[in-house]
Amino acid sequence: MIFSKIIGVGSYLPKKLLTNKDLEKSLDTTDEWITSRTGIKERHIASPEEQTSDLAFEAARNAINNASINTEEIDLIIVATTTPDKIFPSTACNVQTKLGIRNCPAFDIQAVCSGFIYGLSIADKFIKTNSAKNILVIGADSMSKITDYTDRSNAILWGDGAGAVVLSASKKQGILSTHIHADGQYEELLHVPKRNVGNKIQQTIEMQGSQVFKIAVNTLDKIVDEALIANQLQKEDIDWLVPHQANIRILEATAKKLEMSMDKVIVTIDRHGNTSAASIPLALDDGIQSGKIKSGHLLLMEAFGGGFTWGSALIRY
Ligand code: COA
Repeated sequence: MIFSKIIGVGSYLPKKLLTNKDLEKSLDTTDEWITSRTGIKERHIASPEEQTSDLAFEAARNAINNASINTEEIDLIIVATTTPDKIFPSTACNVQTKLGIRNCPAFDIQAVCSGFIYGLSIADKFIKTNSAKNILVIGADSMSKITDYTDRSNAILWGDGAGAVVLSASKKQGILSTHIHADGQYEELLHVPKRNVGNKIQQTIEMQGSQVFKIAVNTLDKIVDEALIANQLQKEDIDWLVPHQANIRILEATAKKLEMSMDKVIVTIDRHGNTSAASIPLALDDGIQSGKIKSGHLLLMEAFGGGFTWGSALIRY
């Protein structure tokens, strides 16, 4: 039996920081409101010249170094992103060029904040069907490029970054299970419509925050049950919750459902904001770098995002 195992993890954050105090200068908001309602203190913002593939490339390079393999050994590149460099070619093809590799398949997937979980799920199946041996799964987003910085309910939330893993064929079990879902009927609650503003087409995030919040919390409850039942595991078997970072109150609600102390939850939202598809691999790398996540630990990753899409991955690291 072939399993897929994470053998390398890397991440990248753009240099520029946007703090709540900075936002206070241009918006009718306060550091106190943002911190108490979201848990966010600051987020990283890509420069105008930095594209999503640049962030993804840096994270991928770090993951490949961490995996101690040669770049040429990568035989599939999957990039989960909502903010591709261009409509086409795919950001994955741009990352492939930047890495200096040719010929391996490369494609993007679009599942907004659940994109990395979708990517892991697809990659796991490529490995288990012996279709690839070393897959780069990258979550990368430049959400600042689709954020309306005059809208206080959105501008405070989003950040930019990228995280990547090398997922490899292994005799040891790494990914125990993945579960992915979607329900398109809630499109209007969270989307990026095309609007004519003056003579220009504007495409920025629009969200009914409190409605999204309630559905996210209820859905994440079900995700946790689904992952545990599928693997006949108990809540207490999980060493670390590595969640999508949308709002500290959503993280707290999921931890409560798991009867888990917040000490067992990897939290980066205070420093990263919501980086969409990048947030889980960024949190994973943060958990490893800080010495919390260790080899052999059982990790539950879960995400909820636009679409709506949602999903989980249960992983023995
Ligand atoms: N500063 C100050 N006040 C703000 C504000 C800001 N940045 N943004 C909104 N407000 C105000 C609203 O105008 C509203 O004022 P009113 O009561 O006078 O109308 C009040 O705060 C409450 O707004 P509400 O939208 O109900 O706040 P909330 O507690 O739901 O928090 C979010 C807003 C966006 C932080 C929260 O709803 C959220 O995190 N939603 C889900 C995010 C998510 O999961 N996204 C998708 C998954 S990726």
